Amino acid sequence: AWTPSHCSSQLVVRTMSVFLLSVCWTLAWASLCAAAVCPCERAELCEHILSWCLFCQVFVFDVGGNTWKSYNWSMVTTLAVFGKYDADLMCYAHSKGVRVVLKGDVPLSYVVDPKNRTMWITEKVNLAKTQFMDGINIDIEQPVEEGSPEYHALTALVKETTEAFHREIPGSQVSFDVAWSPNCIDKRCYDYAAIADSCDLLFVMSYDEQSQIMGDCIAIANAPLSQTLNAYDQYLNLKIDPKKLIMGLPWYGYDYPCLSISQEGICTIDKVPFRGAPCSDAAGKQKTYKWIMKQVNVSLSGRLWDKNQQAPYFNYEAANGQIHQVWYDDPQSICPKAKYVKAAGLRGIGMWNGNCLDYSDEPVARQQAAMMWNALLGC
Ligand SMILES: *[C@@H]1O[C@H](CO)[C@@H](O)[C@H](O)[C@H]1NC(C)=O
Ligand SMILES: *[C@@H]1O[C@H](CO)[C@@H](O)[C@H](O)[C@H]1NC(C)=O
Ligand SMILES: *[C@@H]1O[C@H](CO)[C@@H](O)[C@H](O)[C@H]1NC(C)=O
Repeated sequence: AWTPSHCSSQLVVRTMSVFLLSVCWTLAWASLCAAAVCPCERAELCEHILSWCLFCQVFVFDVGGNTWKSYNWSMVTTLAVFGKYDADLMCYAHSKGVRVVLKGDVPLSYVVDPKNRTMWITEKVNLAKTQFMDGINIDIEQPVEEGSPEYHALTALVKETTEAFHREIPGSQVSFDVAWSPNCIDKRCYDYAAIADSCDLLFVMSYDEQSQIMGDCIAIANAPLSQTLNAYDQYLNLKIDPKKLIMGLPWYGYDYPCLSISQEGICTIDKVPFRGAPCSDAAGKQKTYKWIMKQVNVSLSGRLWDKNQQAPYFNYEAANGQIHQVWYDDPQSICPKAKYVKAAGLRGIGMWNGNCLDYSDEPVARQQAAMMWNALLGC
């Protein structure tokens, strides 16, 4: 039988295209096989990106749509494609020397079995080859108990994925997404040190830090400065090389409906439990920086600054009369984080996600977007 790896040779595709296409259609491998022919205007744009910049990674998540065209491509080094595969995006990124990587996610209970693990890895390697991708970002955010079969399976999955990618696509990059702190956040008790050892990079998701609110159920910052930076010490204390860590910033914030708001502006939120905590940021809604920049202009308070958390916020009145409080990050809150990346010698910086900015032609939007990109370099 034909396997997807048979599709990766352009020569085979060319000489046997008619036969192969019919096989592909029959076996529902159409997208795999079709992608094996370089879709770019120049064949060299399908070659894998080998550059290995040690100290200057800017790691961008893309969730789909067309706004990638407006990114500041002189900064991006890796683009993780979490939206639909877009050949134009791959070709364009390669023309800028930017790596493009797949998303990898799988229920851990499936990959406790080593045969299943190998099958999953083979499928991802073949997908990367046929789509001319330069690696994979493993995004597993499932709860795991320390020492459980899933705990060991996850470490093995990262190790085996990295070995397979490095072997099959020389120079490729394997990264793994971790919570803002290694202390079993959201019950994700992984073997962080072993996982870091087993892959090229950890993308630290320094956001959603209120996913488990243990204190008062009030609206607070998505990524307060000192809590964010202290968590890097926790990673470094595990003897993880700072050169393996990318700081992930939020280009979004949380919009909380307030049950009540005090004189001092403290917004009490609904109790929405999450993985053992009585309340969480699930009481709010995630909003893009684009939405936030429009909303702050029609807010009751205008942009306010919280000195303790070093984060901006504002209050607005919704159509139904309820007061909402919005917490977010902007260049002022991002700058000290970017400075820390340099001072601590981390591998680089990145964000969830690149599409969150207003990339329209309006001069104000253009300037806001440029300032968010520039803030990545520190101030
Ligand atoms: C293997 O993976 C499949 C899904 O791809 C799953 O349904 C099955 O239960 C797994 N087998 C084992 C032994 O875990
Ligand atoms: C917000 O208001 C300011 C000052 O009135 C204005 O210059 C700016 O264009 C507005 N921004 C947006 C995104 O509407
Ligand atoms: C893109 O980033 C570079 C810095 O790397 C900066 O010099 C340039 O002005 C930025 N481009 C835009 C359009 O903001």
